[in-house]
Amino acid sequence: MIKEKSALKRIEELQDLINYHNKRYYQFDDPEISDAEYDKLMTELIQLENTYADHIDSTYSPTQRVGAAPLEKFDTFTHLTPMLSLSNAFSKDDILDFNERINRFLDNAKDISFVVEPKLDGVAVNLIYEGGTFTAGATRGDGTAGENVTRNLKTIHSLPLQIKNASDIPDKIEIRGEVIIGIDSFKKLNKRRSDAGETAFANPRNAAAGSLRQLDSKVTSKRPLDIFCYAIGYAKGKTFKNQWEILQTLAGWGFKVNPHVKQTGNINECIQYYDEMTLLREDLHYEIDGIVIKVDSLETQARLGAVSRSPRWAIACKFPPTQATTSIENIIIQVGRTGVLTPVAKMKPVPIGGVTVSSATLHNQDEINKKDIRIGDTVIVQRAGDVIPEVVKVIKPQRTGSERIFHMPDTCPSCGSRVVRLEGEAACRCINFDCPAQIRENIKHFVSRGAMDIEGLGEKIISQLLDENIINDPADLYYLTKKDLIVLERMADKSVENLLASIERSKSPPLEKFIFALGIRHVGEHISKILTKEFFTLDNLIKATADELTSIKEIGPEVAGSITKYFRLSSNSKMIEKLRKAGVKPQDATEKKPSELTGKSFLFTGTLESFPRSKARDIVESLGGNVSVSLTKNTDYVVVGKSPGSKLGKAQQLNITTISEDDFLELIKETS
Ligand code: IVH
Repeated sequence: MIKEKSALKRIEELQDLINYHNKRYYQFDDPEISDAEYDKLMTELIQLENTYADHIDSTYSPTQRVGAAPLEKFDTFTHLTPMLSLSNAFSKDDILDFNERINRFLDNAKDISFVVEPKLDGVAVNLIYEGGTFTAGATRGDGTAGENVTRNLKTIHSLPLQIKNASDIPDKIEIRGEVIIGIDSFKKLNKRRSDAGETAFANPRNAAAGSLRQLDSKVTSKRPLDIFCYAIGYAKGKTFKNQWEILQTLAGWGFKVNPHVKQTGNINECIQYYDEMTLLREDLHYEIDGIVIKVDSLETQARLGAVSRSPRWAIACKFPPTQATTSIENIIIQVGRTGVLTPVAKMKPVPIGGVTVSSATLHNQDEINKKDIRIGDTVIVQRAGDVIPEVVKVIKPQRTGSERIFHMPDTCPSCGSRVVRLEGEAACRCINFDCPAQIRENIKHFVSRGAMDIEGLGEKIISQLLDENIINDPADLYYLTKKDLIVLERMADKSVENLLASIERSKSPPLEKFIFALGIRHVGEHISKILTKEFFTLDNLIKATADELTSIKEIGPEVAGSITKYFRLSSNSKMIEKLRKAGVKPQDATEKKPSELTGKSFLFTGTLESFPRSKARDIVESLGGNVSVSLTKNTDYVVVGKSPGSKLGKAQQLNITTISEDDFLELIKETS
């Protein structure tokens, strides 16, 4: 009995703790614990919940977010109230017309108040909460009924499984929002997919839609989905006065509401907002394709009603097109680091949203076939945010008959070797390890910031060094002399010295950066960190067997195979030997294991002069400590920079050791 009681208490404790860490990770992008510590908490909770399944209701436990067994197909879900669509405005005149229509309809001359919101470019969903618990969710479908994607929605960390601490929640409520994928997450996801030879998503919206419509919710749980809520479809027994109140209430209940929503007094302020958002758009980390103007008062909304499937009280004002029409002059092939051949359309330059676009990725042959893209075609291209431009579609009526069908070459354009398309892969690959294009891309990767971080060694210099046969692999960089470099274009004494100095500086990288720099297929920054934590030294990793590797969580047979294959290849071991001979020595993770910082918790306040906080965090973490943003009694050191914030006073009150930036530098020097 006592055991059960304490287990139930522990379950609650773990649920709260994991929810807190989810928030830090997914909402604030600022985790306080490592992945391994997080996994430990999760495993403990899953075990306890399974053991005490008869005594608890785990509907809103964070364990529900990790996905369930795959479905055969989605059930149809009928919305309690239809999900309407919006009519569109494309200019300021259209916005003024909208205002006039409303005024005419209402027969009043008073200014109308509106709420203006970003028009999020994602997937509209409907969420049902009963008694405050998330019970079902569906896509919009035809507006009357959509697909029941409840299990997939549960994997979205910013979607509350339970509305907490609110006394005013209706028994049954329908909440509407937009599921999105942020631009950075989208890029990372696509990179992961193309690294694995899978087809890339065309844009963040497609990626969000594809992820939400996965029959296997475990797949969805690995996708970086996010959600903003903006409407209530139905709320049993509860009435709201206006849209602004709805947004405030949703935020108060724990739903994510877009921070750029605004209440305006009249239509001119809406037009001003449209101009502001047109500028702000480029800085947002998710895509929006316009703004939505909504009449604020719900009573007025009701009076205005809807025409066919769009309300009269709202309008979507689209941003100027990010699309343009141009023609494809050629399709060329780019060879990537892992030998993947990517077809790239070279187009007649065309301005889109202030940037001249002249090339667009076509991804692979399947994509080209699907869109039936030919050389000479007139096409619509699209550029959104800083995502790589895309060919949206071909304008087929404009074909003259002289267009040429494109086929991926049988041989690599760089080295002439035969190209293969492995089973199950969309990509074609050059499998010649000596392919010059691959070598160049590999060296570019090797020197890049997340890898060996050799400053001042750009693509142009690398290409010249390769063309002149001065280098053949990354290790050769460490044998460069002043004589080799001074002959290169635009390299004066000073730049040669600087480059040699930054090559020298890169000789003892953290092990994880070195592993990442090697460019082993499927081994990105994340896997490199895991390998470092598991193996501590490069030699241990080189000796690791496939069995040892697959016994590590997160490493499957494909990654393990790729790692063992890499180190088995004699050209790779020779290259590593050559690096060592030149004095390159990755820092073993064991050497600094018993550091003074191990297990210690740091907090920074004020500006640091020696390096940015992100760098300070890297250093602390590499020495086994952790950095948090909130001050607790568990904080060990508060590092006080220039113009410290209120945390300094609080730290003194709590009797926590405060140290200066110099003390901190001393501390890390001693330990590393
Ligand atoms: S309100 C009738 N607010 O736009 C009210 N919709 O064409 C309709 N959307 O399917 C929804 N951002 O996917 C609303 N802030 C926002 C929105 C938004 C994006 C999408 C939504 C809807 C489509 C309507």
